[in-house]
Amino acid sequence: MANVQKGLEGVLAAETKVSSIIDSQLTYAGYDIDDLANNAEFEEIIFLLWHYRLPNAEELKTLKEKLLSYMELNPRVYSHFKEYATDNVHPMTALRTSVSYIAHFDPKAEAEDDTETLERGIRIQAKIASLVTAFARVREGKDPVKPNKDLNYAGNFLYMLRGELPTDIEVEAFNKALVLHADHEFNASTFTARCAVSSLSDMYSGIVAAVGSLKGPLHGGANERVMSMLAEVKSEDEVDEYIDNKIKNKEKIMGFGHRVYKDGDPRAKFLKEMSRKITNETGQSQLFDISVKIADKMKKEKGLIANVDFFSATVYHSLNIEHDLFTPIFAVSRTSGWIAHILEQYEDNRIMRPRAHYVGEVNRTYVPIEER
Ligand code: ACO
Repeated sequence: MANVQKGLEGVLAAETKVSSIIDSQLTYAGYDIDDLANNAEFEEIIFLLWHYRLPNAEELKTLKEKLLSYMELNPRVYSHFKEYATDNVHPMTALRTSVSYIAHFDPKAEAEDDTETLERGIRIQAKIASLVTAFARVREGKDPVKPNKDLNYAGNFLYMLRGELPTDIEVEAFNKALVLHADHEFNASTFTARCAVSSLSDMYSGIVAAVGSLKGPLHGGANERVMSMLAEVKSEDEVDEYIDNKIKNKEKIMGFGHRVYKDGDPRAKFLKEMSRKITNETGQSQLFDISVKIADKMKKEKGLIANVDFFSATVYHSLNIEHDLFTPIFAVSRTSGWIAHILEQYEDNRIMRPRAHYVGEVNRTYVPIEER
C-alpha cells in the first residue's frame, strides 16, 4: 500500500530559519516565544522574521516610519468596501478580496529584485491593518481613520478601528497578541502561501491564498467560533452538559487540539493570563470562569488542551472588538510570518508539486452522451 500521509502529518516539506517547534516550544529565529512575548514590540518581530535577527534602533525606527507611511489606502478601496459592506460580507471574505485589490494600485507588484520584494512586504504588512480596520468602519457607515504617528502598530490598529486613542494597557495586550500569533512554522495558511509562490507567483497572490486558508474553522476561524460557544454556554453550570452533548454528537470544540502540540500550546498560557486580567478589568470575569471550566472539562474528557485560539477570543472580546474581526486580526499578525516564509521560499525555490495516490476507477472507455 502506498504510504500516504493524510494531512501531510509529520512530513518535512522544506527547511526554514523563520520559526521552529521543538519539544513543544516555539521559537522565532531562535528566540523563545516566552522571551519575545514578554519583551518585544510587534515591529521588532516583523523585522526578526524577515531578517532572522532583531533590528537595531535605527532599523526599527526606519521600519516603523515605513509602516506608518504605507498604511493609507487608495480611496478606491474605501468605495469598493462601501459597495459590498451592506451585503453582510464576512470581514475575512472582504480581506481576501481587498488584499488582491490593493495589488492593482502597486505599480511594482510584480518587480522581482530583492529590495522591491522586501519593500512590497512592508507595504502589505502596513496596509493589512488598514484594510481590516477600514472595512470594519465603512460597513458601519463610519469614515476610515488615518494612522497616528505617535502610536506603534498595535496602537494604530486599535486607533484606526475605533477612532479613539487606546489605553497603554490595551496597546500592551494587543501588541502581545500580535507577537504571539506572528508565525508558527508550517501551519496550513503558511504552507498555502509557500505553495502559491513556489510557482514564482507574486507576494500578493501568496497572501490572498493564505488569508483564504486561515479563514477555515479548523485554523484561524476557530477564535470567532469560541465566542459563539461561550454565548451558547451562558453559565458555568451549563458547561458539563454542553460539552458532553458535543462529544456525544462527535462535534469539535473550537479552540482545542493541535496537530503538533499534544501537551499544550506555549502561546495559550499568555492568552489565558491576559484573558483573566482583562475580563476582570472589564467586569466580565464570568466569561473567563466559563472558559476555564470548559478547558478543564476538555482535558478530563478528551485529553485536549486549549490552543492559541481559545483564550484569544475573550481577550479580543474584552477589548470591545466585534467577534467577526477576530480572525482578520489573526491575519494581520500572521501576515508577518507569511511574508517571512514567502521571502524564504523565493530564496531557495523549488515548485511544490507532490504526488497523489490514485484510488479511482481504471481502464474506462469514453461513452457518447446519448448512450449514458
Ligand atoms: N474537539 C473535539 N475533538 C477533537 C478536537 C476538538 N477540538 N480536536 C481533535 N479532536 C479529536 C478528533 O475528533 C480525533 O478523535 P478520533 O481520533 O476519535 O477521531 C482526534 O482528536 C484527533 O483529531 P484530528 O482532527 O485528527 O487532529 P488533527 O491534527 O488533524 O487536527 C485540529 C488538529 C484541526 C486543530 C483539531 O484539533 C481541531 O479541529 N480543533 C478544533 C478547531 C481549532 O481549534 N482550530 C485552531 C487550531 S490552532 C490554529 O490553527 C491557529
